[in-house]
Amino acid sequence: MLTGKRIVLGVTGGIAAYKAAALCSKLTQAGADVRVIMTESAVKFIAPLTLQVLSRHAVYTDTFAEQDPAVVSHIDLADHADLIVIAPATANILAKLAYGMADDMLSTTVLASTAPILIAPAMNVHMYEHPAVRSNMELLASRGVRFVEPGSGLLACGYVGKGRLAEPEEIVEAVRAHFDQRRLLAGKRVLITAGGTVERIDPVRYLTNDSSGKMGYAIAAAARDMGAQVTVVAARTMAEAPSGIEIVRAESASDMLAAVLSRFDDADLVVKAAAVADYRPVIKHSEKLKKSGDDGAAMTLQLERTEDILQLLGERKQGQFLVGFAAETEALERHAMDKLERKQCDLIVGNDVSAEGAGFHGDTNIVTVYDKRGAVASWPQLSKREVADRLLALIAERMERRAGGAS
Ligand code: CTP
Repeated sequence: MLTGKRIVLGVTGGIAAYKAAALCSKLTQAGADVRVIMTESAVKFIAPLTLQVLSRHAVYTDTFAEQDPAVVSHIDLADHADLIVIAPATANILAKLAYGMADDMLSTTVLASTAPILIAPAMNVHMYEHPAVRSNMELLASRGVRFVEPGSGLLACGYVGKGRLAEPEEIVEAVRAHFDQRRLLAGKRVLITAGGTVERIDPVRYLTNDSSGKMGYAIAAAARDMGAQVTVVAARTMAEAPSGIEIVRAESASDMLAAVLSRFDDADLVVKAAAVADYRPVIKHSEKLKKSGDDGAAMTLQLERTEDILQLLGERKQGQFLVGFAAETEALERHAMDKLERKQCDLIVGNDVSAEGAGFHGDTNIVTVYDKRGAVASWPQLSKREVADRLLALIAERMERRAGGAS
């Protein structure tokens, strides 16, 4: 299953470091090429020789102990990795990775690498629940780092609680799932809209909405990681665009319509995560508007309807898989189902944007996915990236089923 996969295994200094030996052995047996990096503290718990024998490669512990003059080791390892696995990961390495520190071989290699990262934390229960650790993990998760949650039970420190390193079999399973997922959308062309549209009143004023673009970008990054060729048509967003995807800027609903329509025929999947204005000012003034009339006089802004992009796509689709979003503050299911039908979507993702942990600005979301028969999946509060992964896995399965001839 893992034949030819190049894995860099980072081992940090906790009592669970001994389990890294079993993990390394299982990864190697599954066919992976494993290169081990140990921190100074990890070496106090388990001998590098153990991991050297199990991985059949020299173990890296010191950034400056270059073993091969032809290469710079941390860059070589960083480029070599298809996946970086850190198990066990201490609170210390989580903090270092969250803040971009590079003061040893492991942190330097991770910072120099563009490979995906899978982390299996292990620590005392109070450390694991500390707000600093939680926020470092959330920050890392928002950048696409995946976690294998620790288990609960009696910890080596004597406490009972969450913090025990996941079993090596579970970590290997997560590694397998990662590589399986990377093929889910291989060769597919995915078009995503993100952010909130901007409808100009004059050169300095506009109408917009609360959309942050984070959900759309998370879906784009997840689709890229599943092997798709991704284009995002992005309206106003403060979020950082993921690398490795094409970004097309579109300010207004009509800009977005043009950008989406010109790419629609070539797309296999379209996900409309953008919050598109339903109305725009009838007149877009070319000069800044001045006050007029008496003090206290009201001003009327006349608005007209914009085009419903998703509805147009629904009318034109020829085999494209179409997914819409319904951000609501009440009667989620009724509104979502109504939009699904009206806009002829294959799936619609509903979220109650007034709920804590869901909606526009945060890094988490709580969604229910509907098809024409009703709710098909409902997930608890998850990082937007995790929502994106689950949503795309569901979409990929349906696309495959459809390609296989099922309804
Ligand atoms: N949408 C669109 N073009 C529009 C309005 C919405 O493409 N002019 C898309 C959004 O990208 C989203 C879905 O339609 O995928 C639902 O958007 P929403 O604003 O919730 O729906 P509306 O149809 O505008 O319904 P309402 O404003 O009545 O809630």
